[in-house]
Amino acid sequence: MRNLDDLLAEGVSGRRVLVRADLNVPLDKQTGEITDDGRIRAVLPTLSALVQAGAKVVVCSHLGRPKGAPDPQFSLRPVAGRLGELLGAPVHFAEDTVGDSARSTVAELADGQVALLENLRFNKGETSKDDTERGAFADQLAALGDVYVDDAFGAVHRKHASVHDVPARLPHVAGRLVLREVEVLSRLTGDPERPYVVVLGGSKVSDKLAVIEALLPTVDRLLIGGGMCFTFLKAQGHEVGTSLLEAEMVDTCRNLMERAPGKIMLPVDVVAADAFAPDAAHDTVPADGIPSHRLGLDIGPETVAGFAAALSQAKTIFWNGPMGVFEIAAFANGTRGVAEAITKADAFSVVGGGDSAAAVRALGLDESSFGHISTGGGASLEYLEGKTLPGIAALEN
Ligand code: 3PG
Ligand code: MG
Repeated sequence: MRNLDDLLAEGVSGRRVLVRADLNVPLDKQTGEITDDGRIRAVLPTLSALVQAGAKVVVCSHLGRPKGAPDPQFSLRPVAGRLGELLGAPVHFAEDTVGDSARSTVAELADGQVALLENLRFNKGETSKDDTERGAFADQLAALGDVYVDDAFGAVHRKHASVHDVPARLPHVAGRLVLREVEVLSRLTGDPERPYVVVLGGSKVSDKLAVIEALLPTVDRLLIGGGMCFTFLKAQGHEVGTSLLEAEMVDTCRNLMERAPGKIMLPVDVVAADAFAPDAAHDTVPADGIPSHRLGLDIGPETVAGFAAALSQAKTIFWNGPMGVFEIAAFANGTRGVAEAITKADAFSVVGGGDSAAAVRALGLDESSFGHISTGGGASLEYLEGKTLPGIAALEN
């Protein structure tokens, strides 16, 4: 896989470099403000290197899941502003992705300047399952660059035009972020230093089933919290009140636990509340004593202590998914406790994407005390599952 250094060695001064970034950042629902700019910061090393080398940098990204047509709530305009602040130079914003505005914005770029195109997903072709429709959009996008850099690690698992089809049309390299992400994750799939402990949370077992299946034979310990733990607790024979439950997954969970006796660690206590609300009455209860009218919204302190003990032995750690509803202070202790235990462990630790990365920052934890914080949630999980990622495969061709 060729990378940014190969491109810089070739020279990019005056060339239009089309950079696919993942600037899909969370926005405040009321104010529209960016609540976590981690993904913007993560792409700065690639963009700054290109700016310094005198390239005309054309950045494209998706934001949210608009349905193939312009939708103002998903505009990348606020991201252009933030990106400009972080780069210390204005970012020219195109009002469309491949139309008149995009073409003129790119044509007017001077060497060393940066433009951001409007949301890729305002165009049906970006996510189309039809190769011809996707290809037609990829043609238009590719016409805006002379070379292509993929630095959108969070989107490499998507077979989308900007990820999968543009690299077939332009000389292409991996950006610094994609390169680093792949290096780190390959350490986990290769021969990780042991004990290798994985912590999984988040709401659904069904979302994580493939990665659990893939990891179970390799890991030494698998710690399960978050909404998905209740389906496992049910499989252990406990009642879970009104907690999140995927009834159709109970047998699968039981089967997983039987296949790897002693490997899977479940909560022994949970914080159970009357309702999913910041002011809901709540108590810590044993995992086998959740009252029928209550729902579990976090793992309890005894569980945190047990998980922390397992993590303190680890030499390699992968964590994906919050342990509870960390956005609400009363239910944030599990996620905080596990995150702190990971930072204290003398281990190579990787935080996998999306919500867990946002949790690290929202809880005010020091990002530098983790080995690596991935920008890709789905992408890092699919990598660990051993799947072929369309964006990576396209770069390797
Ligand atoms: C993400 O946030 O997981 C990535 O940006 C990919 O977005 P998507 O899941 O909407 O394809
Ligand atoms: Mg996702």
